Amino acid sequence: MELNLEGEHADRAYAVLASLVIPRPIAWVTTLNAEGVVNAAPFSFFNVLGANPPIVGFCPGDRENGDPKDTARNIRLNHQFVVNLVDEGVAEAMNKTAASLPYGTDELMAAGLSTLPSSVVTPPRIAESPASLECLEWGTVQIGGNRLIIGLVKRVHIREELFDPKTLRVRSEAFHVIGRMASPNWYCNTRDRFEMVRPH
Ligand SMILES: Cc1cc2nc3c(=O)[nH]c(=O)nc-3n(C[C@H](O)[C@H](O)[C@H](O)COP(=O)(O)O)c2cc1C
Repeated sequence: MELNLEGEHADRAYAVLASLVIPRPIAWVTTLNAEGVVNAAPFSFFNVLGANPPIVGFCPGDRENGDPKDTARNIRLNHQFVVNLVDEGVAEAMNKTAASLPYGTDELMAAGLSTLPSSVVTPPRIAESPASLECLEWGTVQIGGNRLIIGLVKRVHIREELFDPKTLRVRSEAFHVIGRMASPNWYCNTRDRFEMVRPH
């Protein structure tokens, strides 16, 4: 099969790409609006993009009327956000925060979650999340209805049992993040791992 996602199959672009490019990590992004109300929403068009300097990117799509989603709107306002990672324990809570609540609703409270203050950005991090990345917006690239938001990672918080302070390594065997699979509603666990050593 050959598909033309800009022509004949344009209305399938999201479903096809989001079902093929899997599994994807999930950025559960917290931001603040002008009144200081916390907004949280998940985005799986997300990844780490580089380490020097440390950068991440995620991509909210605009709403059908062209308005930015609340997350993008808040970042345009104050240029700061926190990417909270999603493990099995917070999967359902994360899903609840994907509901389209009216602008200015505290989605974390609605999902029964709590926050902890960040160190260098104003949006708080999600206390129940296993790891959080405090980010400053480096820039936003608008491509049609996509807003690719690129952030500089200023601080990383990791739940204590997930990090070995002696080796400075993440204890990957204890870090049970979930992945986003096929559209519309599939996910995977990441417990099934194998090692493959690179050739020299
Ligand atoms: C696991 C998951 C991943 C999602 N990924 C994206 C994404 O990459 N881009 C996007 O625009 N919406 C994505 N959504 C939908 C948004 O989370 C949803 O539109 C949310 O209401 C936006 O919230 P906001 O308006 O508070 O920013 C995703 C939803 C879920 C459950």
